[in-house]
Amino acid sequence: MDKFVINGGKALNGSVKVSGAKNSSLAIMPAALLNNGLNSFTNIPEVNDIYTMIKLLNFLGVESEFDGSNLKLDTTNISELTAPYEHVKKMRASVYVLGPLLARYGFAKVSMPGGCAWGPRPINLHLEAMEKLGAEILLEQGYIVAKAKKLHGAKIHFDVSSVGATGNALMAAVLAEGSSVITNAAIEPEITALVKYLAGMGAKISGVGTSTLEIEGVKELSPAKADNIYDRIEAGTLLIAGAMTHGKVSIYYPEQDNLSAVLTKLEDSGVKLSYNDNNILLDATDSEIKNVDVTTAIFPGFPTDMQAQWTAYMCVANGASTITDNIYFDRFKHVPELNRLGADIENIKNSSIVRGSAKLKGAKVMSTDLRASASLVLGGLAAKGTTEVLRIYHLDRGYQRIEEKLRSLGADIERIQTKEY
Ligand code: EPU
Repeated sequence: MDKFVINGGKALNGSVKVSGAKNSSLAIMPAALLNNGLNSFTNIPEVNDIYTMIKLLNFLGVESEFDGSNLKLDTTNISELTAPYEHVKKMRASVYVLGPLLARYGFAKVSMPGGCAWGPRPINLHLEAMEKLGAEILLEQGYIVAKAKKLHGAKIHFDVSSVGATGNALMAAVLAEGSSVITNAAIEPEITALVKYLAGMGAKISGVGTSTLEIEGVKELSPAKADNIYDRIEAGTLLIAGAMTHGKVSIYYPEQDNLSAVLTKLEDSGVKLSYNDNNILLDATDSEIKNVDVTTAIFPGFPTDMQAQWTAYMCVANGASTITDNIYFDRFKHVPELNRLGADIENIKNSSIVRGSAKLKGAKVMSTDLRASASLVLGGLAAKGTTEVLRIYHLDRGYQRIEEKLRSLGADIERIQTKEY
């Protein structure tokens, strides 16, 4: 078990490159199951969720080679159509194998994901979409068993915009017989990345980047290459690290449009942002941090995956702010831990009321999930004294060696092995 030991209170300074996006990788990798042959991906981050997905794909018979950025997946010898509990319980995104296995093999058995660290996360929309496309779905001993002789095109409308359900529906519809329309489809950049990879395989999809996707099913798809997008959440987290410590940082992040809600809110908070080709330059050396409310929303709104980090940031703002999560109503496990650092945050329903101007002081805190962990690291960087962040295996699921990136910006942060839990 590892922990971070952070000696906080130092302004960050320097430049750093953002890694490839975890969440788009987790969507495109299982999509390779739709074809037969060698697929290659670039800019895949070296984080634990990627290793979990590789292990699951290996279990299904996919051969893989990963050098920490370039990934090859050979789907020639698929031998298993079941995603077992041991894999799915580690990572909910394992449910992404449902659509492609069902579409290509007419059968998939996937363990029900259950709850996650911060509350229930249902998959009803994934299952409804598969049923619409002609699958018979049974629940047997904790497993979803999906069968279909041949999927057929369908009209699918999602009452709630869902990244995962849109991804699964797309991956199933591309090999279905006839045409499908998905309305209220998610328009997150991770879905656009998936659509582009599917199109590279020969899938016929129109409406890319919009909430209406039209799919004309094809008989088969060919192996393809995909250049993965960059991680917008890592980019936002690193920028907040610069802002919270009154630093001056440059972030290599070429897809700035994918982060516009966060960038606008950062400017509202009083830090200076400028843009130089593929870099975002943040200067907070003379900034007074202003209190700025945020409400999470689907893309292009403020991402729920930045909610905890924004909460940490607002602890050092000059006033009170309200941070509301409209995507996940109970994603607030970071609140009591940030309060241990001296923050003054009250959680009411799906909002955090942050009373700013906190003089954060180092303490021992505990990670509970990926983004909560990131908020604690941010708190530790801004706090005076030593902060220990325990259970950083949560953080390692989605941030590629963040301590090295932060150290390259001048942070005093060490990863230490510990028996503490
Ligand atoms: N929802 C349903 N039924 C479903 C699916 C979703 O009611 O069948 C609801 C959810 O409860 C939630 C909303 O729809 O209120 C949106 O959830 P969505 O399905 O979009 O989330 P997801 O696909 O399970 C992905 C990311 C999450 C990110 C969300 C929202 C991946 C692997 N995960 O999850 O990322 O928070 O979209 O943007 O792409 C993270 O990286 O820390 C993370 C949790």
